[in-house]
Amino acid sequence: MKIHHIISDRWSPVAFSGKPVEQEKLDALFEAARWAPSSFNAQPWKFMVAPKGGNLYPVLFELLFDTNKQWAITAPVLALSMAEMVPPGRIKENRFAFHDTGMAVANLLAQATASGLMVHQMGGYDAEGAKKVLNLPVRYEPAAMIAIGYKGDPSELPSEIASREKNVRTRLPLSEFVFTRKFSD
Ligand SMILES: Cc1cc2nc3c(=O)[nH]c(=O)nc-3n(C[C@H](O)[C@H](O)[C@H](O)COP(=O)(O)O)c2cc1C
Repeated sequence: MKIHHIISDRWSPVAFSGKPVEQEKLDALFEAARWAPSSFNAQPWKFMVAPKGGNLYPVLFELLFDTNKQWAITAPVLALSMAEMVPPGRIKENRFAFHDTGMAVANLLAQATASGLMVHQMGGYDAEGAKKVLNLPVRYEPAAMIAIGYKGDPSELPSEIASREKNVRTRLPLSEFVFTRKFSD
């Protein structure tokens, strides 16, 4: 059976167009994130959101590793997802905090695809630096940097970066991660 196009249409581009993301569409991404399920409805996600031209954009951009800076410079919006690892007033860690933050980002991705927007997440950034420059309380952990925008023209990027958009997208077969009898590694 074919999966829904909201899932199959999504992919991570390296070229974004200069077209800014409309505020309404940007807000809808986080509204979608807001409705994600979470353990005990703790909603442990937080997002820093930085449209290009604002004060926060260069702060987030500077945290990126150079390999990501090369293409992420084209993104009209950068965001950083963060997980609240320890709920307010508690000592024990919420072991689902990262899981739930990823769920919120998955909702954001679906809304982006539905709005004609594209998203490329990045783990290649200085997470310790993010904690410092954003003054994050210790119970927060930065998760993924997120580039958001409309599809751009890859020919405006160096060819070795642009060519990444031509790479064949692959995934493991279900047989490697779905088990009905016993676990297999
Ligand atoms: C948590 C996370 C971290 C990632 N880090 C990077 C990164 O630092 N640089 C990059 O170019 N892509 C990064 N990616 C994008 C993945 O490489 C990409 O999602 C994967 O290859 C599958 O391709 P697709 O998104 O087009 O389906 C990251 C994705 C996720 C979810």
